[in-house]
Amino acid sequence: MEKRLISGIYRKSLLLIGESVNYINKHLPKSKVVVITDEKVYNLYPAFFQPYEIIVIGRGEQIKNLSTIAYIYEKFIEYEVDRSTFVLGVGGGVVCDIAGFAASTYLRGLCFGFVPTTLLAQVDASIGGKNGVNFNGLKNRVGTFNQPGFVLCDPAFFQTLPGKEFRCGLGEIVKHALIADAEMFEYMEKNVSNIVSRQPEVLQQLVADSMRIKAEVVNRDEREQGERRLLNFGHTVGHIIEERSTLTHGEAVAAGMVVAARLSQQRGMLSDNAFNRMITLLKALSLLVECPLTSTEIIDGLAWDKKREGNGLYFIFLKDIGHADIEKVPLSQLEVLINEQ
Ligand SMILES: NC(=O)c1ccc[n+]([C@@H]2O[C@H](COP(=O)([O-])OP(=O)(O)OC[C@H]3O[C@@H](n4cnc5c(N)ncnc54)[C@H](O)[C@@H]3O)[C@@H](O)[C@H]2O)c1
Ligand SMILES: [Zn+2]
Repeated sequence: MEKRLISGIYRKSLLLIGESVNYINKHLPKSKVVVITDEKVYNLYPAFFQPYEIIVIGRGEQIKNLSTIAYIYEKFIEYEVDRSTFVLGVGGGVVCDIAGFAASTYLRGLCFGFVPTTLLAQVDASIGGKNGVNFNGLKNRVGTFNQPGFVLCDPAFFQTLPGKEFRCGLGEIVKHALIADAEMFEYMEKNVSNIVSRQPEVLQQLVADSMRIKAEVVNRDEREQGERRLLNFGHTVGHIIEERSTLTHGEAVAAGMVVAARLSQQRGMLSDNAFNRMITLLKALSLLVECPLTSTEIIDGLAWDKKREGNGLYFIFLKDIGHADIEKVPLSQLEVLINEQ
């Protein structure tokens, strides 16, 4: 088991990587614990939930809204939750975002922790202190910055994940290696078959590396003023693909990274060798390397991008395996490059 500390502005978050969920009691306070989970995780792991007061929410992105938060507040009242109660979110990114937001706002803030059960939640959604819900169809529109007291990551949960959800997490893992860690990328290249067969030790190593990378970036830029934008590599185009396809977030990000890497290559920033290594790894992990959208669709989407500031876009380019760069570029320049692809 590996421990790592994230120091947020208001509190610290302890990451427990490779800890068995059977030892959860070691990390919980003696006070009352209320667990929030979704119906699928509840049905898959019923024994885990027995000792606690439970709030089961539906599942999927469509329940990430204020109605679900209101339902949780009502259950908090029913369970006589007070300021000493600890809230534990057990589930994927949807549960973590909802549980973190409900705990951060009820009674002006309760202590909370996460047991992320998807690969995406372990390598991304549970770390960094962002939590919140969608509003009026706008993603993550209402939320807080607040760190969980702990995040317990047990690789045993990956055995029950559907392939699509597993690939979703892999997309973000490859992103972490590409923007920050050439050695991690090599490790992935050498361990493709172990990754695909979900070998727990290998996945635990990748979760640890991903958490380290995200934690380092977040520690330096918690409120996304600069460097944290690097984590958006592949996301500018990835979000557009996600909106217009049935791909999961991480699958769309993988296709978005290919577009971003190709733009980097066109500008002479990225070698053919580095580009080809990226494509080979993504393919070996069964991630999409062909963008399913036309150039016009990408350009239309970029024009609407919420991160557009002035007439330019903060775009993340790849310089090499393990190195990315943020640059504000005029939309017109991106349009020219995309039309050339
Ligand atoms: N706060 C952040 O910084 C941050 C970062 C990235 C993503 N997110 C958010 O995370 C959400 C996506 O997270 P996700 O991909 O985990 O989706 P999710 O929570 O919807 O989980 C995906 C599916 O997997 C099921 N599931 C969960 N654990 C399982 C297990 N062990 N075995 C089998 N099935 C399991 C869930 O019931 C669900 O149906 C999005 O809402 C996104 O906005 C937040
Ligand atoms: Zn992402």
